[in-house]
Amino acid sequence: MRARRRDRLVYLLSHPFLFALLGATRFASSVRIGRTVLVHGTDGYVDGLTRVPLDRTAPGSTGGIARAAGGADVVFDEEGPEHRSTRRSVGQALAGSRLAPVWQEVLRQRLRPLGTGGTVDVVEVAVELTGATAAALLGVDAHPVRLARAARRAAADAARDHLRPGRRPQKPGRRPQRSDAARELIELAGSERGAMLAVAAVNTMVSALPRAVAWCADDDLWSAAADPVRRPVLVDELLRVLAPSPLLPRVAAGDGTVAGRPVRRGDRLILVARHAAHAHRRGPSTVDPAPPKVAQLVFGAGPHACPGARLARAQLADALAAFAVYRPVVVRAAVDRSAALPGWSTVEVRAG
Ligand code: HEM
Repeated sequence: MRARRRDRLVYLLSHPFLFALLGATRFASSVRIGRTVLVHGTDGYVDGLTRVPLDRTAPGSTGGIARAAGGADVVFDEEGPEHRSTRRSVGQALAGSRLAPVWQEVLRQRLRPLGTGGTVDVVEVAVELTGATAAALLGVDAHPVRLARAARRAAADAARDHLRPGRRPQKPGRRPQRSDAARELIELAGSERGAMLAVAAVNTMVSALPRAVAWCADDDLWSAAADPVRRPVLVDELLRVLAPSPLLPRVAAGDGTVAGRPVRRGDRLILVARHAAHAHRRGPSTVDPAPPKVAQLVFGAGPHACPGARLARAQLADALAAFAVYRPVVVRAAVDRSAALPGWSTVEVRAG
């Protein structure tokens, strides 16, 4: 319970009004407010991702934000060959564990102070780990921390701009306005497609990993994290409960229905991954975990479901195994109020 209380702060202190609104309406499976439909139910969430035609690059949608953060259209372009090849390259990179030694080395180096009574900032570990992995995935020799910081700043700038109330919609076909961080990211990542992948790979894991370590420390889940049999179940459960990408903002490109509610072209859909995966209802359990069909919803659904899910699970499993050796406790934590996804700016731990 202590873990959930602490973790709630990442929402309450970063997006208080939005999460109050979502909390107040969550008892209905969907709610319409003007042209916006909030979708809380599991079936409605799947309908929204698989049965409604979506404008994948509309301003205010995840695609629009990723595009402004430096990414190209290719990944979000519905069924194009480039879309498939980007998805394949992420899948193949993990096959054969080519990338695992990269993040394992970061863990080995950065967790050392825990063995000599020192402290470690889990957010700094996550930044270096995701930056090193993204650089290896893209085959660029960018400095890992610089690459990850640029990906975080580019995403934060784009999300702030796109979700600003009263923002004027951009004309279709116009190039997105990009911040300095987005331009730096494209340069470091070597291409727009690389920038998009870096944004997706870095921001989700820099949110998830420190929240997961804090959760294990607060509810003393280190025995499960140390156990190779229970660890994969714990990882799936933590990802379900943390729902690092808690809301998927989408825009309908045509008419459809979401859990029986009609949706019209141009409507905004706020698909609440956190509620679809029952993150708010049941805590992580290795004895009675949620069915995989529900847990995997935090990675989306349908042809655009996250191609990095395996990579994310493998990174988190290795990180939890490495931290579990020290059974750390949290000494200090501060919420990141400006990040694109709810998370911490610092989670300082020491061996327990
Ligand atoms: C805990 C970590 C992660 C979470 C929670 C997460 C979640 C998501 C979600 C919800 C989507 C949208 C799915 C949909 O529209 O149905 C997505 C898309 C995507 N993710 Fe992830 N993700 C994570 C890690 C990663 C990593 C590590 C990578 C890359 C290595 C990655 C690459 C992508 C890409 C490229 C897309 C766009 C896919 C498409 O449009 O076809 N993600 N992710």
